[in-house]
Amino acid sequence: MSELQRLTITPKTDPPKRAASQDPSPVSEIKRVKLSDGRLQPAAEPEGSLPFPEKPAVLEERNGQIEFRVMPLEVIGGITFREFRDRAFGEIVFFAVSSHQQVKGYGAHLMAHLKDYVKATSPVMRFLTYADNYATGYFLKQGFTKNITLEKSVWMGYIKDYQGGTLMQCSMMPHIRYLETTLAKIRSLSKSHVVVAPIDPLSIHAIRATGWSPDMDELARVPRRGPHFNELRRFLYQIQNHKQEWPFLNPVNRDEVPNYYNVITSPMDLSTVEERLEHDSYAASKNLVDDLKLIFSNCRQYNNATTVCTKCAVKLEKYMWTLIKEIPEWYELLEE
Ligand SMILES: CC(C)(COP(=O)(O)OP(=O)(O)OC[C@H]1O[C@@H](n2cnc3c(N)ncnc32)[C@H](O)[C@@H]1OP(=O)(O)O)[C@@H](O)C(=O)NCCC(=O)NCCS
Repeated sequence: MSELQRLTITPKTDPPKRAASQDPSPVSEIKRVKLSDGRLQPAAEPEGSLPFPEKPAVLEERNGQIEFRVMPLEVIGGITFREFRDRAFGEIVFFAVSSHQQVKGYGAHLMAHLKDYVKATSPVMRFLTYADNYATGYFLKQGFTKNITLEKSVWMGYIKDYQGGTLMQCSMMPHIRYLETTLAKIRSLSKSHVVVAPIDPLSIHAIRATGWSPDMDELARVPRRGPHFNELRRFLYQIQNHKQEWPFLNPVNRDEVPNYYNVITSPMDLSTVEERLEHDSYAASKNLVDDLKLIFSNCRQYNNATTVCTKCAVKLEKYMWTLIKEIPEWYELLEE
């Protein structure tokens, strides 16, 4: 099994070293240690502290997760990877930077660090990852491509397959030190070393003329989506793409089924669930799952058990519970 290691950052003088690699894990084993949001649950107690040759920032890796902190010490992001040494590739399993710290360069920095680290410590020269469709632009900028040149036989069945994501590959160059390259690029473009006194934007006529106010800035910084949005969207997407979803896609038509709304007092359908999700109406996964359960119970209440609709409801509900079981954080939603 490829292993998840703990290592801490130590000064340059320490040579890199790492526990020897082992055979890649089958997917079932990966599932056992991977949480639904991509975080990894420790599969076993790590072997000990391992040094890393550079300390470009405050970075710490534990259990296969690299944490990246800025001062004052605050975890602002992390990346989790799994090596398949014998197959000379690695899977980026989870990667996120806090929403309030995104698009400041931390993601690029962390990726460069990961590339250098993996290159320095293993034979892995390629990464695969299922990129969230909103993040493919970021991955393209980090040298990833949707053109997968790795043979399917090398990776298929070894990495977890996601729906609603795009498989992307990155091939690393042996002679490039990514962190230096990134920092050199930043240094050549940046004026961050020039310290200027804070400027009040409203002292600039052109900014005042736009009608801008600090409140607008605050508003723009508020994340547009709740923290669980992506996970809920992915979950709903899977339900919506199931074969048996068709009876529940839209509200029941009053003209076609005149007495429906006399019988069913709390109607629900998948388009309404999607709309609620888009409007951030679900504070927790439970609320969305409750709406789905309502769809199924309404269906059973109105139709008898032998109808096509009820059969679809039974199958779709069963599929929903299968999906929920795959998400450890949602275990409390499981019913006896
Ligand atoms: C994807 C993610 C990790 C990027 O981290 P980040 O700190 O925002 O990235 P950076 O600031 O280093 O951006 C590097 C470059 O990518 C660009 N970029 C960042 N996010 C992007 C996005 N979603 N789409 C397109 N380009 C993006 C930046 O503008 C920047 O471009 P530049 O080099 O021309 O200036 C972060 O947006 C995130 O956590 N997203 C949510 C989780 C996620 O989607 N993770 C991906 C795993 S599927």
